[in-house]
Amino acid sequence: MRTQLEALQQASLARLEGAASVADLEQIRVETLGKKGTLTQLLRGLGGVSAEDRPLLGELANGLKTAFNAALAARQLLLQQREMDLRLQAERLDVTLPGRCPPVGGRHPISRALGEIIHIFSEMGFPPATGPEVEDDWHNFEALNIPADHPARQMHDTFYLPPGPRGEKRLLRTHTSTVQIRAMENRRPPLRIIAPGRVFRCDSDLTHTPMFHQVEGFLVDEGVHFGHLKGILERFLHLFFERDLPVRFRPSFFPFTEPSAELDMGCLFCEGRGCRVCKGNGWIEILGCGLIHPAVLDNVGIDREKYSGFAFGVGVERMAMLKYGINDLRLFFENDVRFLEQHARL
Ligand code: DAH
Repeated sequence: MRTQLEALQQASLARLEGAASVADLEQIRVETLGKKGTLTQLLRGLGGVSAEDRPLLGELANGLKTAFNAALAARQLLLQQREMDLRLQAERLDVTLPGRCPPVGGRHPISRALGEIIHIFSEMGFPPATGPEVEDDWHNFEALNIPADHPARQMHDTFYLPPGPRGEKRLLRTHTSTVQIRAMENRRPPLRIIAPGRVFRCDSDLTHTPMFHQVEGFLVDEGVHFGHLKGILERFLHLFFERDLPVRFRPSFFPFTEPSAELDMGCLFCEGRGCRVCKGNGWIEILGCGLIHPAVLDNVGIDREKYSGFAFGVGVERMAMLKYGINDLRLFFENDVRFLEQHARL
């Protein structure tokens, strides 16, 4: 019995010494001092030992128990400390690292360009107005001096819809000039308005999408002339592109303006020397404009003798492409996240 006790003492202390984790220690404790543990069984065996041997063996056994418990506690403390050190090491936090930014959305380049155009004109006293995207023939063509047989209708390859409840022709507006008519029908001069919005044409290729954005602008008052138009547009381009580039008006034709012009601006990319964007001629076509045709004023009941006005129409995609250096129209509508992230701003 005594040798058994001594052997157990050695073995159990050696096992404690060799334990690698707190969990191992618990295992050793159960196997030694648990209900069926080796030491527990030896202690139970003390009952069968002769009365004279019992005190000595009892003392030995209790000594072993105390030594085991003390060694267990010491080892436990050490291993706990070691495990904590390892954990601290593994979960180490470098508070000097830059923070992780949650992904934040940004505005689409078309929305940004639209916003800037609206902002610039608002500051010049042109508040934004809207009109419906599903239009009738009158507002899209007729009132704008584009009669049914007018060749200009071929310029607008239109999406026609089934007729409305009163049999009226319905279509997706091909330009935002419709808002000119709606505003002039409802209000009297002096009038200054810009009309941003979506327009639709039955066109789809490298440089045309069936839906795109325009901003129409116009002003009607007494004594309005081409000089006013020129001043406003030059100021707008200066503010939008944040540069002073030369501007020229090229005679053109629109049924709703007389005289009509296209405005060209010196090429942003080559400063007029000629590059791929301006096709070598140093100028970029920016927008259409002109003085409102007296027939249009007649159509909305504004006195053509008393009032005159100017109007212009800007393509938003084109402005965004020039300003942000985007060379493919289709990128705007493909929703490729890489493109959107590259150009998104708040
Ligand atoms: N409505 C024309 C278009 O969509 C753009 C335009 C040109 C508008 C000249 C105007 C203008 O107001 O005067 O092609």
